[in-house]
Amino acid sequence: MAVLVTGGSGYIGSHTAIELLNSGKEIVILDNFYNSCPKVLDRIRELSGKDFAFEECDIRDADGLRRVFEKHNIDSVIHFAGLKAVGESCQKPLLYYDNNISGTVTLCQVMAEYGCKKIVFSSSATVYGEHNISPLNETMKTGGTTNPYGTTKHFIEQILTDTAKADSEWSVCLLRYFNPIGAHESGRIGESPNGIPNNLMPYITQVAEGKREFLSVYGNDYDTVDGTGVRDYIHVVDLAKGHLKALEKIEKENDTFVYNLGTGTGYSVLQVVEAFEKASGVKVPYKIVDRRPGDLATCYSDPSKAEKELGWKAEKGIDEMCADSYRWQHNNPNGYED
Ligand code: NAD
Ligand code: WQD
Repeated sequence: MAVLVTGGSGYIGSHTAIELLNSGKEIVILDNFYNSCPKVLDRIRELSGKDFAFEECDIRDADGLRRVFEKHNIDSVIHFAGLKAVGESCQKPLLYYDNNISGTVTLCQVMAEYGCKKIVFSSSATVYGEHNISPLNETMKTGGTTNPYGTTKHFIEQILTDTAKADSEWSVCLLRYFNPIGAHESGRIGESPNGIPNNLMPYITQVAEGKREFLSVYGNDYDTVDGTGVRDYIHVVDLAKGHLKALEKIEKENDTFVYNLGTGTGYSVLQVVEAFEKASGVKVPYKIVDRRPGDLATCYSDPSKAEKELGWKAEKGIDEMCADSYRWQHNNPNGYED
């Protein structure tokens, strides 16, 4: 029996694919390469020493998905496929609602046709909206999202929860990621954003590599340790390992489960810059600029539920996250384009 990994050639999916293969799982990766490239697949094979099936398919293509389910014996799905750029989602909301929501509904319909009713879903801390106070825990009310991307995550959580409520054969695990950074320690796979990075760590690594002149720090007048925004950064390999635990959970029990995947520790932008400079030995010039609209001052998790119920805990600290992010960028200055 195989695990279908949608979006498996993307940043988090590729790291999770390696952990799945290392644990002896059979996997099928499915992706449409909207935000990734085929080279990743060879690197997953290289790093795991194992082979796997790959299907180029869009999750909105029901017939394409049916062909995949006909061909492979799939009994669970880890569902990463989705668009994730917050700014772009404000400009192209219909694209985001179609790709993320319609895509997930189509995927679940086809899964049900083939009697496959176990899904781990990539949700996000963004579902907590702007009114909850950190540390964020899973009992807090979700919603009040501030952009279409976040709203797709909130709606999909609801869609999957309703699906499992209506049919007790379904088992759903919603994983709310905090801020994933870092890369595989080999420096062979990592995050490879197109164009100007939106997120902090890829921007920092591109400044360190000399590809950009300086980092713009979005505001230093927040009510935080040094006035800059505080986030819960989590190493992508720790995050990947959380998916194996989530899979074990839904293989044993049919229900809807929800877990934060974070470290529980917040770092400010300037603390990240400092940790990065220490880990890389490279100076990161920065300028303080205006706040970025929609940003929160502080966002970090209470990760204790995942530890208690899944036996999962993030193990890698900020220094390792920074060192691994830098190694990936330094070895692959143009990401997978090299
Ligand atoms: P990514 O863009 O690197 O990976 C997503 C993959 O999905 C890409 O390879 C893309 O080509 C593929 N994809 C997109 N739409 C598709 C479609 N319609 N059909 C088939 N494939 C499709 O992103 P990532 O950072 O690895 O994120 C993975 C998931 O985790 C996403 O759902 C994202 O929203 C969620 N998430 C990411 C973060 C983060 O900061 N990276 C935080 C919280 C949640
Ligand atoms: C982190 C901090 C910025 C860039 C986003 C999504 C969220 C989730 C993770 C998917 C903030 C500051 C950033 C820069 C800066 N994605 N910053 N200069 O905004 O916490 O979360 O990615 O689900 O939904 O919203 O992450 O990395 O963009 O920002 O000063 O050039 O770094 O203001 O305080 P964010 P981020």
